Amino acid sequence: MEQTFIMIKPDGVQRGLVSEIISTFEKKGFYLKGLKLISVERPFAEKHYEDLSSKPFFEGLVEYIISGPVVAMVWEGKNVVTTGRKIIGATNPSASDPGTLRGSFAVEIGRNVIHGSDSVESAKKEIALWFPDGTVNWQNSLH
Ligand code: CMP
Repeated sequence: MEQTFIMIKPDGVQRGLVSEIISTFEKKGFYLKGLKLISVERPFAEKHYEDLSSKPFFEGLVEYIISGPVVAMVWEGKNVVTTGRKIIGATNPSASDPGTLRGSFAVEIGRNVIHGSDSVESAKKEIALWFPDGTVNWQNSLH
C-alpha cells in the first residue's frame, strides 16, 4: 500500500493545528503508520530539503524548519501521495484552494504549515530519512 511522508512544520505545531491536521487525514480514510514530535538540527533539515539547496530561499527555509519542533508522520492508503497533496493545497497559500489545509490556515509561502511528499519516490526517500529504524513497516489488521 502506498505511503507518504507528512510533516507539520514549526508554525503548525506552535499554532495548535496538530489535532486538526491529523483529524483531516484520519477522516479522509488514511492510516497513520508513524508519528513523532521532533526538533531537527540544521544538517538534517538541509538533507531533507537538499533538492532545493540552490534556491535563494533555502537558508530561510532551513532556519524555519529548525526553529521549533515538527510533527513527522507516515500516512498510508490508496493514492495517498497525490491525494495528500490535494488535502494540503498548493505550496503558496495565496494559490491554495479554500478548504485545503494551507488554504484554510496559511498566508505566507515561507510559513505554509505543512509538508507532503511530492511523489512516491520522494516519499520513500523521506520516510527512510525520518524513520530510519523501520518502525513504520509493521502491518495492522485494519486494512
Ligand atoms: P514544502 O512543501 O515543504 O516544499 C518546499 C518548501 O520550500 C515549501 O513547502 C515552502 O515552505 C518552501 N518554499 C517554496 N518556495 C518558496 C519561496 N518562494 N519562498 C520561501 N519558501 C519557499
